[in-house]
Amino acid sequence: MRKRVAVLISGRGSNLQALLDAQQDAYEIALVVSNIPNAAGLDRARAAGVEAIALDHKPYGQNRQAFERDLDALLVQRSIEIVALAGFMRVLTPFFVRAWANRLVNIHPSLLPKYPGTKTHQRALDAGESEHGCTVHMVVEEVDAGEILGQARMPILPGDTAETLAERVLTLEHELYPRCLAQLACTRS
Ligand code: GRF
Repeated sequence: MRKRVAVLISGRGSNLQALLDAQQDAYEIALVVSNIPNAAGLDRARAAGVEAIALDHKPYGQNRQAFERDLDALLVQRSIEIVALAGFMRVLTPFFVRAWANRLVNIHPSLLPKYPGTKTHQRALDAGESEHGCTVHMVVEEVDAGEILGQARMPILPGDTAETLAERVLTLEHELYPRCLAQLACTRS
């Protein structure tokens, strides 16, 4: 049976597109949720015939858990088995992370454990790294710290900027994420 995956997004959704394009025997994208109502990724989901819902975090104010409770209820209602974060720009609280423990996965644009958090490309450049890449990992309470499912790496070239790195890493992300998600869907019951 194909695992029912929900993808959480906040923006353009290029990783979502890669996950949609690569659907096969292991998983199906059954739902896409964005916390930003006009995220371009919602249109990508609809174009692929996938249910796409905007769950705006703003009306919840500071109450992150109330937002997450509604999100969790939606996922349960749709019989979601795995949640994939793809450019979802909200840090999740322990409530949500525990509720989806071992079923919650993320893609991060660095070779973790190097450069958790933001501005990863500039930080890799500033540190004089010779290589860079991306990581798919399980989500735990500590940000960008869970079990690593896979990584893709590439050299940093003379003249690279944060922008050129972001572009090349993104290409790696689009290949890595579907592969790791399929693997996760096959190996976890
Ligand atoms: C990607 O770089 C991903 O690694 C990071 O956010 C970005 C999302 O891009 N978590 P997109 O919305 O998938 O195009």
